[in-house]
Amino acid sequence: MPLVAPSILAADFSRLGDEVRKVSDAGADFIHIDVMDGCFVPNITIGPSMVKSLRSYSKLPFISHLMITHPERHVKAFADSGSDIIEIHIEAEQDVRETLKLIRSLGKKAGLAVNPPTPVDEVYPYLTEIDLLLIMSVNPGFGGQSFMPEVLPKIGLAKKEMAKRGVKVPVEIDGGINADTGELAARAGADILAAGTSVFKAPDMRRALDDLRACGSKD
Ligand code: DX5
Ligand code: ZN
Repeated sequence: MPLVAPSILAADFSRLGDEVRKVSDAGADFIHIDVMDGCFVPNITIGPSMVKSLRSYSKLPFISHLMITHPERHVKAFADSGSDIIEIHIEAEQDVRETLKLIRSLGKKAGLAVNPPTPVDEVYPYLTEIDLLLIMSVNPGFGGQSFMPEVLPKIGLAKKEMAKRGVKVPVEIDGGINADTGELAARAGADILAAGTSVFKAPDMRRALDDLRACGSKD
């Protein structure tokens, strides 16, 4: 059964703390926080000070998904803000290895994200230096986009390579995830489902979380 990481990009920003508490009480496993700089992606969202102000609303692990051009410049601020897992994009302008090392040196878990157009084998050299692999199933920048099934084979390929290298790193998938696409992702091997619209726009949030968690166990 996959774990569920609601993406607060789809939440009501005018009362984000309450939304974080609500989804935590409804049974989420993580809080997925989308950070955008208007440069790496064509949208601007939130920074470390907002993450800090949300920290007291939930005991769940915070995943800060950094869709920013120079993550190495901001990793410490996100670590200090109370993020537990910091995800950087392999496509960002940085020394990937150094940034991953920096995240771990701050006592945090390091995640590496790969966009749909990027071949998954580009992350292979880093598999022993990460704690989470994030497969994007939409081009990053906005919530509410359609799921791209063509990325699903990346999960199995990455897991095969992990086995070859003797490592076991959980795989998160992010973008267009709902009960149907989550089913496909879970069957492809995804361990964590990041989902925004299908959780925060659902009439029954707890039901939506349960439906996502049931992915992969349907007959
Ligand atoms: C997109 C973000 C996703 C997005 C998911 O760039 O990284 O986390 O918010 O939202 P939905 O589930 O609505 O596609
Ligand atoms: Zn995200």
